[in-house]
Amino acid sequence: MAEFKYEPFFNQLCFHLGRYEYFARLVSCGSGAGKTIAGAWEALEWAYDNPGSVGYLFEPTFKMVKRVLIPTLQDDLLLGSPLESHNFVKNYNRTDSMIEFTNGSKWWMIGMDDPESAEGPNVDYIWSDETRLIHRNRIDTAFKVWKRRLRGSVPGKYPVGFWCTTTPNEPGSEIWKQFEDPENKIQNSNVYRWSMDDNPYLEEQYKAEMKASHTGGLYDRFILGLFAAVGAGSFGFDSSKHVFKKPPVIRQVIYGVDFGWTNPSVIVAVGFDGDGRAYVLEEFHQRRIHSETLIEEAKQMVQRWGSGIFYCDSSEPRTIEEMRLAGLEAVPNKSKREEGIREIGGRLKKKPDGRYRLQISENCVNLIFEMQVYLESKKENDHAVDALRYALASTIRGPARFFVESF
Ligand SMILES: Nc1ncnc2c1ncn2[C@@H]1O[C@H](COP(=O)(O)OP(=O)(O)OP(=O)(O)O)[C@@H](O)[C@H]1O
Ligand SMILES: [Mg+2]
Repeated sequence: MAEFKYEPFFNQLCFHLGRYEYFARLVSCGSGAGKTIAGAWEALEWAYDNPGSVGYLFEPTFKMVKRVLIPTLQDDLLLGSPLESHNFVKNYNRTDSMIEFTNGSKWWMIGMDDPESAEGPNVDYIWSDETRLIHRNRIDTAFKVWKRRLRGSVPGKYPVGFWCTTTPNEPGSEIWKQFEDPENKIQNSNVYRWSMDDNPYLEEQYKAEMKASHTGGLYDRFILGLFAAVGAGSFGFDSSKHVFKKPPVIRQVIYGVDFGWTNPSVIVAVGFDGDGRAYVLEEFHQRRIHSETLIEEAKQMVQRWGSGIFYCDSSEPRTIEEMRLAGLEAVPNKSKREEGIREIGGRLKKKPDGRYRLQISENCVNLIFEMQVYLESKKENDHAVDALRYALASTIRGPARFFVESF
């Protein structure tokens, strides 16, 4: 595929060379190590090499299809143009998230927050990006469905293959079982592991900041790409209690915003029922995005959930001002860190009515991960938690203030 600029570095090349040798491959690396671009290139090569073949590309959520997968495909190193205008693409159907290539190959791009769409006819290859973020209630089914579907779109006609590109999680996890467990791992599978440091294209500043903000098991996972245990977080967060599938009737919505660049920028939408119980309805969580994108995302959330105050990280007054100019009710967070943490912790405790005053949508995969590992003593991996803290701290002085507040 000479017209593409992507040239894999050594570790990526080893992964690509395993293409038709292994049925299943795991790329287990640190953050920013070059996983997604390698996974996307792999899918392009597969489509190109095997005219008429069918591939499924998965992100943990549909939002990540839009925000991570499509932009990676459109990156200068790969297609370098909007999908529909590249000469290898015959048709891009946004509604179905389907691409037809000029050689008859086809892709479906799917968010695992709609697992039903993972069911369907047989396919030739499957790529799952950031597999660690798929909800634990779904991940073992996901692997079963994926394996079942990999029987070939036309049995025997094309090679069949499967690859996951992800930052790892803990030893014993479903991903670990499938790829690392000596007794039960997928036959004819291989693991490719490299560190964030092995990506020669990643800025030194990003590497330094990531290293400075990760310790212990999180360092092993996010820098080195190793499966590693992390201690239980400070919140006692329990996804069997604090995660919901469908929200109740929502009476009021507020938003929390944390600004980042190397670290992700985050928006959380928090809805309240008539009794003041909080439900985190949606998250936006992404590194390296400009304020225009963040504001666009904030506006879309308002369209979905209704208008409400945006409680923002106070370190970027200019972005707050930009949000206000864009018509959003943005105010700086004025609460102290401990106050917000106490509020979150208190809401997670079971109340006399047997219910919790904070629950999180199962689609907020990054917030759920952060809640599980959050340590009060360390300011790391806490960007979605920070956004949530800014939002919930606004309720501390009682629902009256919160419900009548305006600015
Ligand atoms: N072979 C390559 N040539 C040039 N740039 C590369 C190459 N591989 C990765 N990069 C660059 O490195 C950066 C990180 O790549 P990518 O987003 O694929 O990593 P990732 O491991 O998926 O990161 P994250 O943990 O944020 O999901 C991107 O800017 C990408 O363009
Ligand atoms: Mg990635």
